[in-house]
Amino acid sequence: MIKTKVIDLKGDFNIKKLNQAVNIIKDGGLVAIPTETVYGLAANGLNGEAVGKIFKAKNRPNDNPLILHISNLEEIYTLSKNISSKDIEILEKIWPGPLTVVVQKSELIPNEITAGLKSVAIRIPNNELTRKFINLCGVPLAAPSANLSTKPSPTSAKSVLEDMDGKIDAIIDGGESNIGIESTVLDLTSDIPKILRPGFYTKEMLEKYWEKVEYDLAINDEKKVPKSPGQKYKHYAPDTEVLVLIGDDDAVYIEIEKLLMENKKIGLMLFETDRENFKEEENIIYMGSKEQLSEMGRILFDALRKLDKQNLDKIVVRGVEEEGYGLSIMNRLKKSSSNNIRRL
Ligand code: TXA
Ligand code: MG
Repeated sequence: MIKTKVIDLKGDFNIKKLNQAVNIIKDGGLVAIPTETVYGLAANGLNGEAVGKIFKAKNRPNDNPLILHISNLEEIYTLSKNISSKDIEILEKIWPGPLTVVVQKSELIPNEITAGLKSVAIRIPNNELTRKFINLCGVPLAAPSANLSTKPSPTSAKSVLEDMDGKIDAIIDGGESNIGIESTVLDLTSDIPKILRPGFYTKEMLEKYWEKVEYDLAINDEKKVPKSPGQKYKHYAPDTEVLVLIGDDDAVYIEIEKLLMENKKIGLMLFETDRENFKEEENIIYMGSKEQLSEMGRILFDALRKLDKQNLDKIVVRGVEEEGYGLSIMNRLKKSSSNNIRRL
């Protein structure tokens, strides 16, 4: 067990406090960092031994490669090979932001990062404090989501502490992540850019930059081998069973009514417009509007974590259509529920 230090940097910037975390990274330790998507668990990305500690702390399968987080676009030249000037021009516009690109790796990258692949995943997070931190560390930071493997990703320092207390050196508390689901992973090594993991950036949004973008077929076909190794594992799952219901209000309400009669304790994740049909209860969490899914994305993992602590028989979530951002949200919910999705 190590003592995990929480470094509070939510308010005013404090260089002394930040430097404590910088020194941990320089000494080969682990620091959880805030990003706009979810919290990451960071180590010096050029130090294979430090990176090895990430896999241990998370209990992550070691064939699942990590994302390198950088603070300046120029760093991509030393970490990758053969990146096109067109791709660079687009990344200049999109970064910092919730998009990770997979490119050919350079010799600098330790094997622990890429799990033996010839490519490496890179992104610049849209969080000023974290970019400053990366800059002070002076190296790219390898950082997967800072949850225990299989658990929902953490969107606050508190959630990181739940999973990582005693396993990592420090957590930088920079407040809550405002996007709430992980970055879109886009493979730039094929002729047509391919979405390996859906996220904030949808296909339609990316096609404004690259004329044509495809989905990795494994995203919607269980039988295909995904190009992102992380996509094949059990993921984002609370201990409590999750059921996702997709349908009209009335059909969903009838189904919930039935479940309430069968089961004693059910947690509900519903939309704002459902509020009038339910009482205010601790085991009901409202996820904003079903027309504008950003709030659902923002609180999705946190809500699953909260309800998981309430000793429920089942968590029932209202699902959405798999289009636009809804596709990214349903990608997470399918995994959280082990595909326990019911269309009504
Ligand atoms: O928003 C995010 O991306 C967060 C924050 C912390 O930046 N990070 C994150 O990391 O979600 P992680 O490790 O939980 O997910 C990384 C995903 C995995 O599915 C992994 O398999 C894929 O990216 N990946 C990493 N390197 C890859 C590569 N070279 N080729 C294909 N997929 C790769
Ligand atoms: Mg993850």
